[in-house]
Amino acid sequence: MRANASAGPSEPSSSEPLGSVTVVVLAAGRGVRMNSRIPKVLHPVAGRPMLLWSMAAARALDPQRTLVVTNPAQDGVQAALNGEGQTVAQREQLGTGHALAQVSADHRTSGPVVVLYADAPLLRPQTLRTLLAEHRASGAAVTLLTAKLDNPAGYGRIVRGRNGAFRDIVEEKDASDEQRQINEVNSGVYVFNGRVLWPALQKLENKNRAGEYYLTDIVRLVKGKIQTVAVQDGDEIMGINDRRQLAQAERVMRQRILDALMAGGVTITDPNSTFIDADVQIGQDSVIHPFTTITGQSVVGEDCVIGPMSQLRDSTIGDGCRIERSHLEKTRVASNVTIGPFSRLRPGTDLADGVHVGTHTEIKNSRIGPGSAVPHFSYLGDAVVGANVNIGAGSITANWDGFQKNVTEISDRAYISCDTIFVAPVRVGSDATTAADTVVTKDVPAGSLAIGRPEMKIVEGYTARRRAKHQALPKNPGVPKP
Ligand code: UD1
Ligand code: CA
Repeated sequence: MRANASAGPSEPSSSEPLGSVTVVVLAAGRGVRMNSRIPKVLHPVAGRPMLLWSMAAARALDPQRTLVVTNPAQDGVQAALNGEGQTVAQREQLGTGHALAQVSADHRTSGPVVVLYADAPLLRPQTLRTLLAEHRASGAAVTLLTAKLDNPAGYGRIVRGRNGAFRDIVEEKDASDEQRQINEVNSGVYVFNGRVLWPALQKLENKNRAGEYYLTDIVRLVKGKIQTVAVQDGDEIMGINDRRQLAQAERVMRQRILDALMAGGVTITDPNSTFIDADVQIGQDSVIHPFTTITGQSVVGEDCVIGPMSQLRDSTIGDGCRIERSHLEKTRVASNVTIGPFSRLRPGTDLADGVHVGTHTEIKNSRIGPGSAVPHFSYLGDAVVGANVNIGAGSITANWDGFQKNVTEISDRAYISCDTIFVAPVRVGSDATTAADTVVTKDVPAGSLAIGRPEMKIVEGYTARRRAKHQALPKNPGVPKP
């Protein structure tokens, strides 16, 4: 921590602590090439809006302040920031230079100013730290992050003199055929000396093919040394302008996430068919099988086997669980629980230790106590189930009466036979039993049997009489013709 890290955001620049860092994230662009109604910077990469990847990179510098230049007409950007950083409005989208020029006088500090574009989510925090360190060490007026790309199309090119010294940045639109052959590009990540930046910014002009105020033109206006730092991994500087690039970035980010999980002791049987969001945590020796997606704020414990073909969204799973071909959303699962195949656990499901949920079971907003089992095609909605309860095949809660949801309570060690229907609100006491095919419409006292089915009749000699009438054995209808 720096000594005066507490200086307020509106502190005048003259009293800035020496060397305090300001980060400015440019996020106001129109994003025309996305062809989207959603602001470009809110499109997610590995489950996190692009802008928040830039914010995370900024945080790694422990800056004095982070300013985010946004277009006030774009909905949702402010909400996505969730109070992080301070927004600066750019009402007209007149270019990256114009965007930075929206920073008001009281934020125009003399320390290092780091500029990031919010459409470059693959930038590693460590790269940004190195860039800032190099800037400080060299005392340059501007330090640019560059990269050599196999395909530099679309990026501003870094023009160098014969001796290799930095000369200029030329945008692709304005580049000559010869300049377009250059494969070293501008990343859009810069560190400026504040004292040099702000006066130079005033002098930017928009005399170019796009008629925009290019931030890149600042290299022609600053007084002092311009230094470049090349990043090894060209993926890091990928700018996302269209949905093809969005998909490319997604692929790179997902691979990074999987690599980190594997390094942390998680087995991913097939990384190509496994999709895990950035904020997911998975414990040691868990195995993730193919065609599985684990998204949102999910947490998986140790020694679990998840998949194949499972979807976990915003769910928490304890240790030693087995989840196969099932969907879980906003579900909490304790340890040693088995789920699936083919079950669906909806928001508010809470399974205690050792629960078994089998096939074709749907559970919503229900607590199932330790050691209980719901093994075959059941629906439990708004239920509170105790410990060591067995729910027989085909049993369901009728929790919705057409007007409101009602609760079913089933206490410890109750034995629920097949095809029991609970017409909620209703309670079943501990150690009670329901007979198969019972419709439970009133509370069942502890230890008792509820039986509510029509008495069975026997009709003697029925089969023979029927066959005689048709003068044949019954036939199968046969395989339908396509
Ligand atoms: C920019 C650079 C280019 C670089 C490339 C790297 C300029 C002129 N060009 O080009 O040299 O190789 O990024 O990806 O800077 N923005 C605003 N307000 C605006 C315009 C843009 O806030 O008026 C924001 C956008 O939201 C975006 C960023 O600035 O996050 C970059 O803008 P974009 O139009 O994508 O620039 P590029 O053409 O990709
Ligand atoms: Ca871009």
